[in-house]
Amino acid sequence: MLPYNIDHVAIAVRDLDAALADLKEQYGTEPLSREVIESQGVEEAMVPVGASYIQVLQPLGPETPVGRFVEKRGEGLHHIAFSVPDIEAAIEHLESTGVRLIDHEPRVGGGGNRIAFVHPSAFAGTLVELVELVEEPT
Ligand code: CO
Repeated sequence: MLPYNIDHVAIAVRDLDAALADLKEQYGTEPLSREVIESQGVEEAMVPVGASYIQVLQPLGPETPVGRFVEKRGEGLHHIAFSVPDIEAAIEHLESTGVRLIDHEPRVGGGGNRIAFVHPSAFAGTLVELVELVEEPT
């Protein structure tokens, strides 16, 4: 069940364009993709850094999970995502350890990947996302 990569580190922001401009100016990075994910209430951009990404998340409104996060805690680290080879096996393993999961079944996330979230109470107050990629990284 060992994750084989940090797929992405997600940062919640109020203004996606401004955040992407900051990343470009400071690190010379540019987003590889950008999409609105209505089911999660976010617009997200994936900015490659080595074999991983920074996922920049802007809430679509204040009454979304990321909108409430930004209202309460301000901009900043929202979650980390581990790539796993088999998301069902990862979920089953985590269930066997007794931790609280947000998703007991995978759902479809950005890029069509299969994802599931683990409650922040499981590990140091940090929201963890499991990702099974539909395409292996090249
Ligand atoms: Co994510």
